[in-house]
Amino acid sequence: MRLYQYLLFEKKLSKNSMRRLIRSNAIRLNDQIVTDEAIEIDGWLHQLMIYDEPCQLIRHSYYMMNKPKGLISATEDKKLPTVCDQFSEKIWPIGRLDRNTEGLLLLTDNGQLSFRLPLPKYKVEKVYRVKVNGLLTANEVEQFARGIEFYGGIYCAPAKLEIIDANQNESEARVTITEGKFHQVKKMFLAVNLYVTYLQRIQYGPLKLGYDLQPGEFRALSIDEIKMLWDCAQLQY
Ligand code: URA
Repeated sequence: MRLYQYLLFEKKLSKNSMRRLIRSNAIRLNDQIVTDEAIEIDGWLHQLMIYDEPCQLIRHSYYMMNKPKGLISATEDKKLPTVCDQFSEKIWPIGRLDRNTEGLLLLTDNGQLSFRLPLPKYKVEKVYRVKVNGLLTANEVEQFARGIEFYGGIYCAPAKLEIIDANQNESEARVTITEGKFHQVKKMFLAVNLYVTYLQRIQYGPLKLGYDLQPGEFRALSIDEIKMLWDCAQLQY
């Protein structure tokens, strides 16, 4: 939530009185005088004072889920179960995983964070464990490092491909990308004539999928984890 949204809609100030308060240095966030009414705020990370009176800020929700196959990364779907159906509160996924992809999915009700994190300009690394139906070699590692071009001309930023196990009929690898194009990992392998048979996201930025979460389980993020995500999105606290 932006500071001005809190002051106008929660504290019911008029625009004029909000700006007067800011001009007279009456508003402090984490002990710093506020000059920017558009700054993002969250009760987990910020203490807001107006004329030395502490304000009760809204705390956003932040979760990590081990998404199982079969759930849709959407808030609602007419036919199929979604990741958001598993929660009683109003939240949405940060980016998306395909229906048959499993692994780490972040969910929040923080609009700024969920808008920023998937943008390529923040270069948040997403790491996937992948199995393909053929032999992976140093040639594919090189092509991924140069940047794959999809059939049709869309170009992907350089990606890291680390081969874990390579055989004629099946190979396993780890792939790190910094973008979130539609079906990106599957299409990158298709561009080198391989078909993805299994895909699991194991890391999103600094956050790793731990053994604590079985497929379908989720947990709230700690304050340190929330701060790491705010750092990735260049939001201040
Ligand atoms: N790339 C894909 O192809 N699918 C996903 O779900 C995520 C990344």
